[in-house]
Amino acid sequence: MVNRYFITFEGPEGSGKSTQIKRLQSFFISKGFETLVTREPGGTKPGDSIREVLISKSSGNLEAETELFLMLAQRCEHLRKIIKPALEAGKVVLCDRYFDSSVAYQGYGRGLGAEKVRKAHEEFLGDFLPSMTVLLQISPEEGLKRANHGGTKQLDRMECEELAFHQRVFDGYNKMAEAEPERFVKIDAVGSPDVIEKIISDAVKNKFRGLS
Ligand code: TMP
Repeated sequence: MVNRYFITFEGPEGSGKSTQIKRLQSFFISKGFETLVTREPGGTKPGDSIREVLISKSSGNLEAETELFLMLAQRCEHLRKIIKPALEAGKVVLCDRYFDSSVAYQGYGRGLGAEKVRKAHEEFLGDFLPSMTVLLQISPEEGLKRANHGGTKQLDRMECEELAFHQRVFDGYNKMAEAEPERFVKIDAVGSPDVIEKIISDAVKNKFRGLS
């Protein structure tokens, strides 16, 4: 089941998703839509607590399955209590990471396998998918450099993973975008924020005819 105004943003660390989500929110507001911007892991109170466990360095090494179950747990709360009600109320939902992050990070990055992750999501959360997924693609080296703001911001537990992990996530995203070209819009995240904003708003106008 595909949901009309459910748009997700994906990408490796440091890909600039939050900047572009804000800009796309302004675009939809200018067209008279009510919007909800939310994120994963998080989006609810228990989801934010689970986020803390997932990204805090004090959690140390978590089993890949533990990570996946925590992602699914926060998503269950988020999907049923926040995302679905907002869509039913006619809002445009813009979500910073969703199901595809689990496939990229736990499936490809941690090596659980994309199929296993997809099956687990479907088994418990059904086939509730975004109608459009903006993939801001950036190499691990460049993305991690951006994520620690030239050495001024401490990297979190996931960001601290070895480069090979981030490379598997990057490659995984490419495979996912290739497999579903009708849903994914893949954009090189190294360009200027204004250029990226324009590519995204053009893709949105193209997808949702009647918006321009
Ligand atoms: P963020 O830094 O973009 O907010 O995301 C937090 C981290 O959580 C990021 O390293 C990606 C990771 N993540 C997963 O590993 N699996 C998931 O399903 C989600 C939603 C995020």
